[in-house]
Amino acid sequence: MCKVVKDGQSLTVALDNVLESVVEAKDRAFIQALCYGVVRYYHRLDFILQQLLSKSLRNKDTDIKMLLLIGIYQLQYMRVKAHAAVSETVSAAKKKSWAKSLINGVLRQYMREQAELEKQADENILAANSHPEWLVNKITTDWPEQAENILAENNKQPPMALRVNLSQSNQQDYLELLAEQDIRAHAVSFCSSAIVLEQPVAVEKLPHFSDGMVSVQDTAAQLAAELLNVQAGQSVLDLCAAPGGKTAAILERQAKPIEMMAVDIDESRLSRVKDNLQRLKLNAKVIVGDAAKPNEWLQDQKFDRILVDVPCSALGVIRRHPDIKILRRETDIAELQSIQQQILMAAWELLLPGGILVYATCSVLKQENELQIEKFLNKQSDAKEIVIEADWGLKRAVGRQVLTGNHGMDGFYYVRLTKQ
Ligand SMILES: C[S@@+](CC[C@H](N)C(=O)[O-])C[C@H]1O[C@@H](n2cnc3c(N)ncnc32)[C@H](O)[C@@H]1O
Repeated sequence: MCKVVKDGQSLTVALDNVLESVVEAKDRAFIQALCYGVVRYYHRLDFILQQLLSKSLRNKDTDIKMLLLIGIYQLQYMRVKAHAAVSETVSAAKKKSWAKSLINGVLRQYMREQAELEKQADENILAANSHPEWLVNKITTDWPEQAENILAENNKQPPMALRVNLSQSNQQDYLELLAEQDIRAHAVSFCSSAIVLEQPVAVEKLPHFSDGMVSVQDTAAQLAAELLNVQAGQSVLDLCAAPGGKTAAILERQAKPIEMMAVDIDESRLSRVKDNLQRLKLNAKVIVGDAAKPNEWLQDQKFDRILVDVPCSALGVIRRHPDIKILRRETDIAELQSIQQQILMAAWELLLPGGILVYATCSVLKQENELQIEKFLNKQSDAKEIVIEADWGLKRAVGRQVLTGNHGMDGFYYVRLTKQ
C-alpha cells in the first residue's frame, strides 16, 4: 500500500512483488482483496480517519496510516471478526511500537462511532464516492447527468469478459464448452467475440485457454477490432499496441494471415505482445518505436487500416485499476492530450487514401476524446468521420462514448476516420 500511496507504484506491480513470496493461495487471495478494497475506498477511508485523528500523521509514518486504513476497511467491508481485525492490525505495527496504542485506540473509537462516521462520509461528496476532488469535478463538468452513475460504477468490481478466438471457435460453441465446466456465462449481442461470465474464474479453468481459444478482455476493448473491419489482404498498423489485446483481437478475425505491424514505445510491455501472440498462434511484426515519430522505425510504408489506441488517463478502467484514483494527477491530462494529438497527426500520414483509422481511448474525458478529435478534424481537411451506428454507448458530435458500466463495459471512446 505504501508503495502505491508514497512511491507512486502501480498496485499491480506492488502486489506482484509481494505475492511472489506468499505460499498459500488463500492468503494471496486475502491480501489481494484487502489491497484492492483499501485502494478502491482510499478517499472514503481517509476521510473517516481524519475524523478520528487529532492531528495528521507525518509523511514518514505513511505505513501506520495505511495500517489504520486497512483496519477500518476490514471492520466495515470484510467478513473478518472485529477483534481479529484490530489485534492483527495492531500487531502488524511491529517495527513502530509507539503506534500500537494509537492503532488500537483509533480502531476501537471507529467501532464505537461507526454508524455516525459512515453517515458523515455518505454526506460528503468526495468521501461518499471515494474519488479525489479534481476527478469528481472533471467528471461532473463533462457528464453532469451521468456523473453520479460513473462515480458509482468506478467503485464496482467489473465483470470478467472473454474474447473468443474467432479463428478457432465462436460465441455459441464456446458457451457450450463453458457450460460443460459449469461456468455460467452469456454472449454479448453487439460484439461477435465477447462472452461475459457471471462469476470470475481463474484463467486455467477456462476450456482451451492455453491453446489460445480464449482470452480475457473487456467487451469495450474488443469493439476496436469490429470497428476496424479489416478485409482480406489489407495491411494493418496497430499503434500503441502493448500488451497486444487489440492486436490479437484483430488477427483472430482473419481467415487468412494479414500484414500486421504492432508498435509500442515500451520494450518490456512489447514482450507481452509476443507472449500473447505465441499463445494464440498469431503473427505480427512487433516493433519498438515512438508512434509520434514513425520516421525512426518505418520506411515509406502506408496502411489500409490503423488503430491508434493512444496513451490516456485510463479513467474508464478505474474499476479494474482503482489505484488510478490515487496515482493520476490533474496535470497529467493536458500532457496526455498533447501526446495524443502528436500521435494522431503522425498516424494520419501513414494512412492510405480510402483507408480507415480508428482512434481509441479508455477514458471518459471529453478533452481526450471528442474535443481532441474535433480539434484534429479542424486541422486536417482530408479527414472525414465514418459515423459509428451501434447499440452501445452514446453518439457524440464526433465518435461514440461508452461511459463506464454501459452494457457492463469499461469506459471507452471510439471514432472512425477515413482519408478522402
Ligand atoms: C492503452 S495502452 C495500449 C493497449 C493495447 N492497445 C491493447 O489493446 O492491449 C497504451 C500504450 O501506449 C504506449 N505508448 C505510450 N506512448 C507511446 C508512444 N509515444 N509511442 C508508442 N507507444 C506509446 C504505452 O506503452 C502503452 O502500452
